[in-house]
Amino acid sequence: MSDKASQLVVVTGASSGIGLAMSKTLLEQGYQVLGIARDFEQTSIDHKNFSCTSLDMSDIDKLPAAIAEIVAGINLPVKALINNAGVGKMGNLEQLSIKDIRLVMDTNFISHVIVTKSFLPLLKKQGHGDIVFTGSEAALKGSRQGSIYCASKFAVRGFAQALREECGKSGVRVTVINPGAVRTPFFDELHFEPGSEQENAIEPEDIAKMLITVIEARPGTVFDEITLSPLNHVWQRKR
Ligand SMILES: NC(=O)c1ccc[n+]([C@@H]2O[C@H](COP(=O)([O-])OP(=O)(O)OC[C@H]3O[C@@H](n4cnc5c(N)ncnc54)[C@H](OP(=O)(O)O)[C@@H]3O)[C@@H](O)[C@H]2O)c1
Repeated sequence: MSDKASQLVVVTGASSGIGLAMSKTLLEQGYQVLGIARDFEQTSIDHKNFSCTSLDMSDIDKLPAAIAEIVAGINLPVKALINNAGVGKMGNLEQLSIKDIRLVMDTNFISHVIVTKSFLPLLKKQGHGDIVFTGSEAALKGSRQGSIYCASKFAVRGFAQALREECGKSGVRVTVINPGAVRTPFFDELHFEPGSEQENAIEPEDIAKMLITVIEARPGTVFDEITLSPLNHVWQRKR
């Protein structure tokens, strides 16, 4: 077994978009991958080193026990935890229901706190490991119709900054990757999407490549944050 084949990367939101591309790239690189999402029915990964667990990460009351069970079942060194699952609910604040607000904050922020908290003792005991968050350009600047989504991503970024300081001495690194528009099913239920030109959106594979650079960096260094943007920011309304 190669060195990488004896290391596990845990990817949340592995059933679609960025998380799916990350999982495929990690598998190509030789890692074992454990994917977490609600529904893997449509996910096109058929690889001996891929396993998956179906879990609704917005079910905050049940999440700690479910993640504890996953952590207890891990019998390989954990190379990295990728906190990537997320949803977008966009609109002027008064158009968002309390349910929408809870869903976004629970899925995009609170669930990542719970998952990270569950994995930290294992990572600190190992004395190494990466915790990587998929942030967003919305973690850097607020924008119209994105109040709650931005709040969730700002929260992730602040959490990650503090955690980085807490974890350095134990050898655990914390990174936030902040993409601009990425062409994924994220936009399926939104009223807008990136422009159709190639330079109007990042491809999920671009982020997956960046992830490999992050987790394979020399252990004494850490990528604090990485921002990837489409060359030209163009959004279009859907008909
Ligand atoms: N696309 C963009 O332009 C963009 C830009 C910046 C940042 N991001 C961020 O990138 C991350 C991935 O988004 P994406 O673009 O790849 O979108 P996507 O294709 O819609 O993927 C979202 C992933 O999150 C999972 N997920 C959503 N709700 C979940 C829940 N309650 N429990 C468990 N898993 C859940 C989904 O799986 P299931 O539906 O199977 O549960 C799916 O695997 C998100 O954090 C998003 O905020 C996206």
